[in-house]
Amino acid sequence: MAEGVDLKAQMNQLIRGYWTTQAIFVAAELRIADLLADGPKHPDELGRQAGVKGDMLYRVLRALASIGIFAEDDEGRFMLTPLADTLRGDSGQRAYARLHGHELYQSWAKLLDAVRSGEAGFVEAFGIPIFEYFSKNPDRGAVFDKAMTGHHGPEADPMLEAYDFSRFKDLVDVGGGNGSLLIAILKRHPQMRGVLFDLPRVVERAGPGIESAGLSERCRLVGGSFLEAVPGGGDAYLLRHVLHDWRDEDAAVILRHCRNAMQPSGKVLVVEIVVPAGNDPSF
Ligand SMILES: C[S@@+](CC[C@H](N)C(=O)[O-])C[C@H]1O[C@@H](n2cnc3c(N)ncnc32)[C@H](O)[C@@H]1O
Repeated sequence: MAEGVDLKAQMNQLIRGYWTTQAIFVAAELRIADLLADGPKHPDELGRQAGVKGDMLYRVLRALASIGIFAEDDEGRFMLTPLADTLRGDSGQRAYARLHGHELYQSWAKLLDAVRSGEAGFVEAFGIPIFEYFSKNPDRGAVFDKAMTGHHGPEADPMLEAYDFSRFKDLVDVGGGNGSLLIAILKRHPQMRGVLFDLPRVVERAGPGIESAGLSERCRLVGGSFLEAVPGGGDAYLLRHVLHDWRDEDAAVILRHCRNAMQPSGKVLVVEIVVPAGNDPSF
């Protein structure tokens, strides 16, 4: 009996997982963590500053406090916690919450349709493929770029420790987003030149970052689609978290384009999530 009750409670938590996603999304959109940077505040004051209803905001913050994001003191004021602190400023973590709470949330709401139709959930929700959407909505595209840096950025140092990039002279980062990984590689290897290749709008947004890293001389920005071609002449083609976005046929096209474009002795470097056999979590 006791076991049954626990299982039901556990299942209820899982069923209501979307409450958490949306509550974090509200805090991220309203910049609640920034509003609390100078000390605890009452939800009414926070509501006034954020332009929302204080009593409604209280409910969201109380829910988040129950999972360690913000904490309420004896006077009913909320304060930052280490978890809440990750949402401060223009951090990639905040962008990650904004991306998941908005476009990705709506796409996951179409999961059943996707399973039935075989179409991507994003297309079911928005009517166009994800990267076309972000090209047409540059503000949201910038949120996506930043979310990627927030999510994958910490991988750069371990990658650079684990793999010897010094053997390459011309590295093409295919689908390189805002260039944060390429910047880290080029800074570590001053003899190397790089090409940041991504969709035209993405590359446009990446320009200032490359420039302020002082890498304009060694890093070329090329806009285009890897479904059509990739820039030629590199001795390394890096695909980090790119292939998993595509069906097998498209992934094969992208890889073939890299093969055709590279120097004869070139290498394709794939950094990707691999779902292991068995039941261990991998998402
Ligand atoms: C999941 S993100 C990974 C970004 C980056 N490589 C990283 O590790 O953070 C996938 C990238 O592929 C790019 N992309 C999508 N479609 C593309 C296309 N047709 N041609 C070139 N790049 C594309 C996106 O703009 C995005 O920057």
